[in-house]
Amino acid sequence: MRLSEKIRYVGVNDMKTELFEGQWPLPYGVSYNSYLVVDEKVALIDTAAAGFEEEFLANIKAEIGDRTVDYLVVNHMEPDHSALQAVIRGEYPSCEFVTNAKAAAMIEGFHGITDNIKVVKEGESLSLGSVSLQFFMIPMVHWPETMVSWCPEENTLFSGDAFGTFKAVGDDVIDSKSGVFADYEDEMTRYYASIVGKYGAPVQAALKKLNGLEIKRICSTHGPVWENSIPEVVGIYDRLSRYEAVRGVCLAYGSMYGNTQKAAKALAKEIQSRGIPCAVHDLSVENYSFALRDVFKYDTLILGSPTYNNGIYPPVRQLMEAVVDRAVKNRRFLAFGSFTWAAASVKLLNEMASGAGFEILSDGVTFKQGYSDAKFDASGLAGLV
Ligand code: FEO
Repeated sequence: MRLSEKIRYVGVNDMKTELFEGQWPLPYGVSYNSYLVVDEKVALIDTAAAGFEEEFLANIKAEIGDRTVDYLVVNHMEPDHSALQAVIRGEYPSCEFVTNAKAAAMIEGFHGITDNIKVVKEGESLSLGSVSLQFFMIPMVHWPETMVSWCPEENTLFSGDAFGTFKAVGDDVIDSKSGVFADYEDEMTRYYASIVGKYGAPVQAALKKLNGLEIKRICSTHGPVWENSIPEVVGIYDRLSRYEAVRGVCLAYGSMYGNTQKAAKALAKEIQSRGIPCAVHDLSVENYSFALRDVFKYDTLILGSPTYNNGIYPPVRQLMEAVVDRAVKNRRFLAFGSFTWAAASVKLLNEMASGAGFEILSDGVTFKQGYSDAKFDASGLAGLV
């Protein structure tokens, strides 16, 4: 598909993989984006995941026919983009790989390919004839070898995973209709929170480095090509990487026999009655990435956990550990939950939240055995206004 005379989209949609990275559900699929820059020389930017060999090669040939691919630019080595490197080398034996030193070592590690690799440094350019590609390193967004490729003549940034999102692309690929960004906003936030969320500082460094470029087109590795929503897309990555949140509550809980769930519902009702947005997640039945998305979105985290094995109920602990792993900052926190003979979960959650530097709204709300409104003292919500 033509993005311009010289830039073509040759990516694929994946509607069959259930879990991205073996852990993140894909209810709307995902795209593995790859691009051709067609000039006197032909450059391919990244490849796609295993299983898409035929479709990927057919997409390339539909754009360039019998011409060869002169260069494969490797911006990122995670296998959702690098799996077909050996296929490209097999189809186009003279194709020179262009990448940085860290990625070159990974190409050998993943594929055993060591020959015909051009190693580029920060700011170096590659001429393709009338247009060129310039390379900028953006380490830890979200692997150490990641770089972006900038085509100044087309004002196009091939950004790797940066500005990427879950959710397959539509037929037109470009965000040409209004409302496309809004359609992707939730899945972009979940993608960021799940995959990139730990690397807020490197994302900020990358945004600063790219700030001077006059970007008119963002070609990331996942999701639409952004031409009409660039301020929104850059803005959301900027906010998320600064851990900036809007007013509201992510209320996530796990429950074995329904008592902590009853407390969660009572709390949610109370919060919503105060006009505060409150997203509720049952971690016993839902992948934690959906709650993690709302941890990045809202300024308050409320977690409900029964005491289990004298500790935190495992699905709730998994979310809290993910929050701590990602160094989420500037959140308010409240814990609640049931216990049967010894209370531990609320105290342990408070310790984790305190260690993360969160503002603890109260000691938490805990109750023995069965739930009842009378047992459940919601005064801990007093700080929520
Ligand atoms: Fe889409 Fe980090 O790979």
